[in-house]
Amino acid sequence: MKNNIITDIPSKLTLIQEKLCQLKIAGKFEIQNGDEGYSTAPSNIALIKYWGKNLNRKQIPDNSSLSYTLGGFRSFTKVTTQGRFLPETNEKTISIKNKLFLNNKDIEVPIPEKMDILIRSIFNNFADEITLKIESINNFPTACGIASSASGYAALVGAIADLLQLKKHLRTEELHIWLTEWARLGSGSATRSAIQSSEESFIKWELENNSNENFTETSEMIFHPKWKQVEHCVFVLNENEKKISSSDGHKSASTSPFHNIRVAGVTKKIARMTKALKEFDFETVQQISEEDAFAMHAVMQTGNPKACYLDEETSKAIALFIQMRDINEILAFWTLDAGPNIHILFYKDAKEILRDYHAKLQELLNREIKVFKNVYRGGLLIGKNEYYNILDKELLKSSLN
Ligand code: DP6
Repeated sequence: MKNNIITDIPSKLTLIQEKLCQLKIAGKFEIQNGDEGYSTAPSNIALIKYWGKNLNRKQIPDNSSLSYTLGGFRSFTKVTTQGRFLPETNEKTISIKNKLFLNNKDIEVPIPEKMDILIRSIFNNFADEITLKIESINNFPTACGIASSASGYAALVGAIADLLQLKKHLRTEELHIWLTEWARLGSGSATRSAIQSSEESFIKWELENNSNENFTETSEMIFHPKWKQVEHCVFVLNENEKKISSSDGHKSASTSPFHNIRVAGVTKKIARMTKALKEFDFETVQQISEEDAFAMHAVMQTGNPKACYLDEETSKAIALFIQMRDINEILAFWTLDAGPNIHILFYKDAKEILRDYHAKLQELLNREIKVFKNVYRGGLLIGKNEYYNILDKELLKSSLN
């Protein structure tokens, strides 16, 4: 990293950035004060988790991962440029003072350093002095167990892509690389949210060679029509902000004696999971997802410092869920993120049993437990119309209906 710019970006992304610079120099590309860009992106829940990353390089995960797109839990982001733009500059040092506004409030909030650095890096060579005003809204409550960094960074790069009119300037494949790579440099899990897809799908983010600097990766959608019958919800056991962020948690992953063992098994798991998803083999998907969630939490709990996200209540809630699932023989499984809240994927027939589960869980924990149901609204969408077409004015309501 130099001058607060990420310099060690993958060569395929460098090539695209250079192409954009050439277009700019040729006068095909202009950014002006007041230009706007819009995007909305889904969150996602990993079934095979990304946990641990190479700390010497920029955001390269230790293992491949696979997620289910949470198309109903979304971030909506608008970016507006404010500043001075030099027409044909090769100037490397830029001064960007970005401003962040969240959830329809007029109060500017401090911009996270890694977000500021990401934006500087994207605009490196494009602009000499620029302020990007970022206005972002989530339609789900913060700290309800849904990853906001995944949807947030994906929507941010999507909005910048709209601002730069990249749909016009880049080929589909180039745009895909541009979006997923910049999203990854913001937050690893955002890569899986930065994919434009109209179908409800699972996203596989596979590393083909991460043993050297020239690592290669692919992100691919996996689908079988029967997964359309599968729904997702999250039971919120704890709404408090987590004490250890995932970014900090990743740092201690490699100190766990189980980390390398888990990482070594991921390639096989991804292959088995891909096959099971394509064949709608629910039992295998369930088995791998639940095993990998426990494996990740075992790594978290045995690292130094340890990150214990799975607490006693979560353990009780999982045990009750497994008991009711097995007695009633429903197609449903649980998974966890870096937090105590339980995500359930279930075949739609299982909804009644889940309502019973909700009632029993509240009895067991002796308090009200919120549950948010996800209704698919698409993958990453770029553009003002797309943004307004699905902007939910209201926050999601706690309900299983
Ligand atoms: C447990 O993507 O939040 O959700 O790359 O540091 O931003 P950074 O971490 P992040 O890590 C996600 C961890 C996880 C599992 C997953 O989503 O794969």
